Amino acid sequence: MSKRIIGLECPECGIIYPQELTPICKECWGPLKIKYDYEIIKDKISKEKLKNRPFNQWRYIELLPIEDLTKIISLNDGGTPLIRCKNLETELGLKELYVKNDTINPTLSFKDRPASVGISKCNELGINTVGCASTGNLAASTAAHAAKAGFPCYIFVPANIEYSKITQTAIHGVNIIGVNGTYDAANQLGILAAEVFKWGLLNINVRPYYTEGSKTIAFETCEQLNWESPDNIIIPMGSGALLCSVNRALIDLYKIGFIEKNNIKISGAQPSGCSPIVTSKNTKSDIFPIENPDTLTKSLAIGNPASGYEAINVINSTNGCAIAPSDSEITDAIKLLAKREGIYAEPAGAIPLAALINLIQSGDISKDESVVLLVTGNGFKAHQTVTNLISEIPIIEPTLDALEKYTNKKEAIAFAKN
Ligand SMILES: Cc1ncc(COP(=O)(O)O)c(C=O)c1O
Ligand SMILES: [Zn+2]
Repeated sequence: MSKRIIGLECPECGIIYPQELTPICKECWGPLKIKYDYEIIKDKISKEKLKNRPFNQWRYIELLPIEDLTKIISLNDGGTPLIRCKNLETELGLKELYVKNDTINPTLSFKDRPASVGISKCNELGINTVGCASTGNLAASTAAHAAKAGFPCYIFVPANIEYSKITQTAIHGVNIIGVNGTYDAANQLGILAAEVFKWGLLNINVRPYYTEGSKTIAFETCEQLNWESPDNIIIPMGSGALLCSVNRALIDLYKIGFIEKNNIKISGAQPSGCSPIVTSKNTKSDIFPIENPDTLTKSLAIGNPASGYEAINVINSTNGCAIAPSDSEITDAIKLLAKREGIYAEPAGAIPLAALINLIQSGDISKDESVVLLVTGNGFKAHQTVTNLISEIPIIEPTLDALEKYTNKKEAIAFAKN
């Protein structure tokens, strides 16, 4: 019987490998990708069939690399809203703007999507010890899904990540190991550990399967737009994996005939204090790893991005842009998104809005284009950083008198400021 999943393919030299924990081609070091048989998939999935399935990421099972459905480990990941942002449209003078609000995933970031797929694949392959190297969000997602699976779990993080992310990870009873150094040092240790202990480390030896999970953010977005594709998608980049997954998702949808044209411009954003992909794309040079990232956008502080060249190819081939907003542009975007649309994002989640403002100013996005921002992480993830953005709250006695005094004072201040 023909199978929906053919194997792991090297996009560089075309060799096909069986489904195991092999992240790169043994011949040419190319990053392996899942090869699907789209003719078989077309027979199994239809827009009509989708209507009867629960709204979480597993509704797109035919385009995900899991064959034994009993092995799925899910916290009901994905199924997040796509929100029309009328207030920001007015403010920015833009025709059509949406936020894909992935801040409300089970562990409050989009990483639940790939973590759920990665751990499910480990379960299917019989690998029962899992983990990852992470800037914090994948750590929390991996820990939560490992807890659900009942798997021992080892997580490597740079010791200086936000305390909220460490707490959110450790509470699941996993082994969280703070590495003295950057994310790249933690990742390097993870690569060695995967080799020696044969653990399934999601972003390392489980990478070809794990990155497939992030495709569902784009599947959902297109379905929520009634299978009309937007003109632009703007995406935060750390390793660049999410951006590449979105691109593969759009190709999948095009190949099975769910979207009619695939001419969406895919743009990527990194903070200016750690922007190796953006710098390389815009100066047409090699990717030079950043040894000491310097940004409050800690989720994106990846100096040596594993999917960097692939991300540049995607941005170039879709006519997108690469932008590196400053930390202050990013914190302004956190405030703007919260004040105008009621969405509370961490710096990595707000960076697409900072990038959009830059792209409108530079004329790279014109006001009659439609735009989707992937808002990928919740403000609670970076509580310490965001706390610095608000002023102290007033404290008053619990009396109407005190309230009257306070409001009068406020009106007086507002009047004076005008
Ligand atoms: C909230 C958030 N958004 C975006 C990204 C970027 O993901 P990638 O490393 O796949 O580029 C990360 C990475 O950790 C993240 O935590
Ligand atoms: Zn190869």
